Amino acid sequence: MSINNAEIKNTRKLYVESYGCAMNFADSEIIASIMNEHGFVNTNDELEADVIFLNTCAIRDNAETRIRERLKHLRMNKKSNKDLIIGVLGCMAERLKDKLLEEEKLVDVVAGPDSYRDLPKLVAEVDDGGRAINVLLSREETYGDLNPVRLNTNGVTAFVSIMRGCDNMCSFCVVPYTRGRERSRDAQSIVKEVVTLFNDGYKEITLLGQNVNSYLYFGGGQKKEFKKLTTEEQSEAIDFADLLEMVALAVPTMRIRYSTSHPRDINEKVVRTMVKYNNICNYIHLPAQSGNSRVLDLMSRNYTREWYMGKIQMIREIIPNCGISCDIISGFCTETEEEHQDTITLINEAKFDFSYMYKYSERPGTPAAKKLSDDVPEEVKSRRLTEIIKTQNAMSLAKNSARIGSIVEVLIEGNSRKSENDWMGRSDENVVVVFPKANEQKGDYVKVFVERATVTTLIGKTLNQ
Ligand code: SAH
Ligand code: SF4
Ligand code: F3S
Repeated sequence: MSINNAEIKNTRKLYVESYGCAMNFADSEIIASIMNEHGFVNTNDELEADVIFLNTCAIRDNAETRIRERLKHLRMNKKSNKDLIIGVLGCMAERLKDKLLEEEKLVDVVAGPDSYRDLPKLVAEVDDGGRAINVLLSREETYGDLNPVRLNTNGVTAFVSIMRGCDNMCSFCVVPYTRGRERSRDAQSIVKEVVTLFNDGYKEITLLGQNVNSYLYFGGGQKKEFKKLTTEEQSEAIDFADLLEMVALAVPTMRIRYSTSHPRDINEKVVRTMVKYNNICNYIHLPAQSGNSRVLDLMSRNYTREWYMGKIQMIREIIPNCGISCDIISGFCTETEEEHQDTITLINEAKFDFSYMYKYSERPGTPAAKKLSDDVPEEVKSRRLTEIIKTQNAMSLAKNSARIGSIVEVLIEGNSRKSENDWMGRSDENVVVVFPKANEQKGDYVKVFVERATVTTLIGKTLNQ
């Protein structure tokens, strides 16, 4: 039962499948990096894999149902390959812990988000005939020193994790339990990773965290409030705006995005830094969750509708054409019809370019599950969600239609989904743009004249055609 076992049996094939948010996809690249160092080779074909890792999400019940369905399907692979090792990693592993080993007999490895360095050892334990689990959360782990191995990459855009965990405790949310305490990654290691991506030909990076605006690095990993730092730590402390500036200066020809911002913590310093550097994209993902202050209070979001709208105004005053997107939950505990209408009016007032919209799904162990009643009937949640989607779609179409006749700068990411004859890319404001191919290449910046618009896409032609 030693790590050498894994080293001896190297060249085994690893297949990683990712679910959930961008942070989980970024983690899979850390997982691959750790496993590759121990001799495992990546494969995109699950049928030839010796080890299959599902990097899972627990945010809503249906995310977990999907994983269970997938596990059922993987039973077949195990039948044809008796030595196949199946691991459940990530947030669902952290939430269910050893229950997962009891419930899902074919799972050999369970590993939480902070225990990935242990994966080769856990696999070695399975080689020795056992089943293995590590779900310890850490206050320091950021995997900052590792070089992520880019998986399923388009070679143009990449994610870079800048922090882990979340200390916000929104009452509906499982993330603080699955990812642990918030901690910020060493700023120098972030810049180093970004420069490596630049040298490898990448053109755009997205800095990732659950609440990037509370990034604070002061030479130590754990989270502390600025005012609680020593004078020496304060003089060295790097906040999110400082980090953005460092990255913008390090790679002046790369596009820089970031996600996710919390309305409580986004500030003028960050928005002014966006203006100062041309390569920081004019786009902010700013989840509101609800447009009603009573519901926001029950959600423990720590802001009101007015506070939220104040932030939107601040952003639009400084960057008038800034792309802004939102996350919305329908049918949270005790939400009334009038309160739901407040969410509808928020969409129209804030004029989001697009939103990710969900029905509330109670997560066991969260403050909402313990203290509030999930009393909005399923059909009401669904109907409200439909109304929210309808409102947002109309807003998205109006906003995209207003871009008809303008020229947008697009970074080409690859073929459009519908046709190999068209390119797909994004504008600075993060709107998807599709146009016919001429002599451009993936990774080029092109100016596109917008001719038509749909809810999700701008359609046009390059100016040099
Ligand atoms: N850190 C980010 C959100 C991460 S989770 C933030 O605070 O904005 C992504 C989104 O999933 C959330 O914004 C929320 O809209 C949604 N979500 C989280 N928990 C949920 C639940 N229990 N039911 C439905 N949607 C949920
Ligand atoms: Fe969840 Fe709130 Fe943290 Fe976002 S900020 S991850 S919604 S607890
Ligand atoms: Fe899901 Fe975990 Fe991300 S619960 S949304 S994968 S942080």
